[in-house]
Amino acid sequence: MTAAPYVAKGINFDSLVVEDAAQGLFRVHRRSLADADIFALEKRRIFDRCWIYAGHDSEVPAPGDFRTRSVAGRPVILCRDDGGLVRVLLNSCRHRGAQVCTEAKGNARAFQCYYHGWTYNNRGALIGVPDPSSYSPAFDRAKLALRSPPRTDSYRGFIFVSFDPKVTSLRDYLAGAAEYLDIIADHCEAGMEVLPGSHSYCIRSNWKLLMENAVDDFHVMTTHHRFLQYLQDSNQLDPESPRGLVGVARDLGNGHAVVERKAPWARPIAKWSPIFGDERRAEFEHRQSEFEQRLGKERGYRLTQLNRNLIIFPNLMVNDIMGVIIRSCYPTRPDFMEVDAWCLAPRGERRDDRKTRLENFISFLGPAGFANPDDAEALESVQRALGTSGEVEWSDMSRGMAKSEPAATDELQLRAFWRQWRRLMSLPSGDELALSGLPAHAAV
Ligand code: FES
Ligand code: FE
Repeated sequence: MTAAPYVAKGINFDSLVVEDAAQGLFRVHRRSLADADIFALEKRRIFDRCWIYAGHDSEVPAPGDFRTRSVAGRPVILCRDDGGLVRVLLNSCRHRGAQVCTEAKGNARAFQCYYHGWTYNNRGALIGVPDPSSYSPAFDRAKLALRSPPRTDSYRGFIFVSFDPKVTSLRDYLAGAAEYLDIIADHCEAGMEVLPGSHSYCIRSNWKLLMENAVDDFHVMTTHHRFLQYLQDSNQLDPESPRGLVGVARDLGNGHAVVERKAPWARPIAKWSPIFGDERRAEFEHRQSEFEQRLGKERGYRLTQLNRNLIIFPNLMVNDIMGVIIRSCYPTRPDFMEVDAWCLAPRGERRDDRKTRLENFISFLGPAGFANPDDAEALESVQRALGTSGEVEWSDMSRGMAKSEPAATDELQLRAFWRQWRRLMSLPSGDELALSGLPAHAAV
């Protein structure tokens, strides 16, 4: 596919993400992290056309269960209807627009808008309006159901929506990332479940800096040295594991990327560490052999012994580390994002392993944990320093370009993200094309 000769607001995205494969150099112009026009285009060209994570099907296990949240700037109701189908409904009344559900979660057969009382069932159909005789015969309730995003689909329990009706299938969109969602879903034959409670916080930086950070192993030993020291002091590091992060980075297609590596901390799956106690060593080894029997030796080894940080373009992060953490971010300004994080766990997990998992969720990635605030400070530091972008224009992401197999501590994974950002930002969206009169592109 070639980009149309269409440069919105004078922005040529090829000049903002520049790579020279022969020289092994890759750089990103810092305007892409602060510019209001670029931010406005990102909403159309990225968030309105990609598949966006909306939730996990375990969050609405029973008919009538619902959760409300914001997805790509839209308030939505994630619910399971009375027939057992998971739906994503746009949380805006067809009367005059109020949110028809204002609870964070619950179980309901119907949602009644508190403004004037229009009522919808959990399939979204409009089932009641006060004083229906006040409407003319042309008033058609069947045409006034709650709207849904044009596309909703799920993969291994991960539910996504797209606001582009022509978007490619979710499976094709996920490309190589699907295998990593498989590994995470395969942690438990009985299935994985999102645990009650979540973290919601804000970071005063551009959203793309967090996507970079989520797969940036280069920063771990410096930014998080205090956290690593804490793990060592509290006997949570495996003395047989290497101290650093030893592994690889992969470009998974469509802007998705992963780092997969050994890490020295405890995982409450099947990798024993001193914190679990000598008496459980044989149990962990038995679990590992069970995984290898079920999934094959190579996948079983990867699942139990390696850690993964996965990004699914544009804004989903899944860490399969000392627990499984799902995070999504959404920008409300070029220099501000909202972040949500959930803890994913095997159904029926041992009570003490669940406790370890939850403690890791809070102590590492919690908004007041030992590591996440360090990341937030680094990102906000970058954002504050963008005041110099007139003089210091470029960020460098060349690390590992000369290697045939870049390491997890290189920057191949960041380049994969930024290449897709450049590609999508260079493609005008359908409504922009309609205004410009240029021919439409194939769907993303
Ligand atoms: Fe919902 Fe009026 S806005 S009933
Ligand atoms: Fe970090």
